[in-house]
Amino acid sequence: MMFQTKWEERRQLVETALPVELAACGSADETLAASMAYSLMAGGKRLRPVLLMAAADAAGGRGEDYLTTACAIEMIHTYSLIHDDLPAMDNDDYRRGKLTNHKVYGAGMATLAGDGLLTVAFEVMLRQAKVPEATRLRVVREMAVAAGPAGMVGGQALDLVSEGQHIDQATLRKMHLAKTGALFRAAIRSGAILAGADEETLAALSAYANAFGLAFQITDDILDVVGDAGQIGKPVGSDEKNQKSTYVTLTSLDEAKRLARRAVDEAIDALAPLGDEAQFLRELAGFLLSRQQ
Ligand code: IPE
Ligand code: IPE
Ligand code: MG
Ligand code: MG
Ligand code: MG
Repeated sequence: MMFQTKWEERRQLVETALPVELAACGSADETLAASMAYSLMAGGKRLRPVLLMAAADAAGGRGEDYLTTACAIEMIHTYSLIHDDLPAMDNDDYRRGKLTNHKVYGAGMATLAGDGLLTVAFEVMLRQAKVPEATRLRVVREMAVAAGPAGMVGGQALDLVSEGQHIDQATLRKMHLAKTGALFRAAIRSGAILAGADEETLAALSAYANAFGLAFQITDDILDVVGDAGQIGKPVGSDEKNQKSTYVTLTSLDEAKRLARRAVDEAIDALAPLGDEAQFLRELAGFLLSRQQ
């Protein structure tokens, strides 16, 4: 099947399942429920759920079987975006082509919507059927570590303390691998673990995930400079406004593009031990170099 078609098919599965999974969690307050749904259903590439399912395919499983866990990681990701956009963080007004959560619901409710999405994500993960309990718990741990201070939140802290600072490239790499790489790694490893991947496959997919996450954030930094706000659905120039340390500001646009290409090559090379069932993952890595959104 064509790469774009497969992505679109899987994206549709996620779009349909997300509101069902969210509603099943309930909410004591209607505004909170609306605020969570607002950001979760605002579109987005659904890349992490698609990667989770693709990793399961690559490990010899059936990606669709793990749609529940795929929805859960999109909830964690959406929470990270709501908090990333808050006035006390990047202070951005647009996300996924719409006003940011705090612009519509206020900073207090947006904070709670993020908290809510993070928490329900774990409730949803525990609903994953078709796997042994021990496997489900292993995935919960992957997600918890990736979302927390050793992963995404830690990377966001590094990002915050690096504003207006000159950091070296090793620190920048560490920041990108944590703030962005960790969730990609969790998505890919979780898909593989759910499908019962052997150690060799899991190692190959983990190496792919690290390089993919790095390449993804480098291209995000590039799009923040040369992207089209209409296409990326969020403001261009946010990093400059906040004096962020990025691959573009620390090196140059050309060097950032070169480093993105190198990371993509590394991601594809990591899949060498895998066969045709990993073809979608190879194409997904290649796509990063031409993405406009
Ligand atoms: C944006 O992620 C945040 C970063 C980690 C750079 P995406 O570019 O995947 O955002 P959506 O989900 O498509 O909106
Ligand atoms: C944030 O990186 C990554 C997250 C953990 C949300 P950015 O601040 O560059 O993400 P965008 O550009 O606002 O999507
Ligand atoms: Mg940020
Ligand atoms: Mg931001
Ligand atoms: Mg960015």
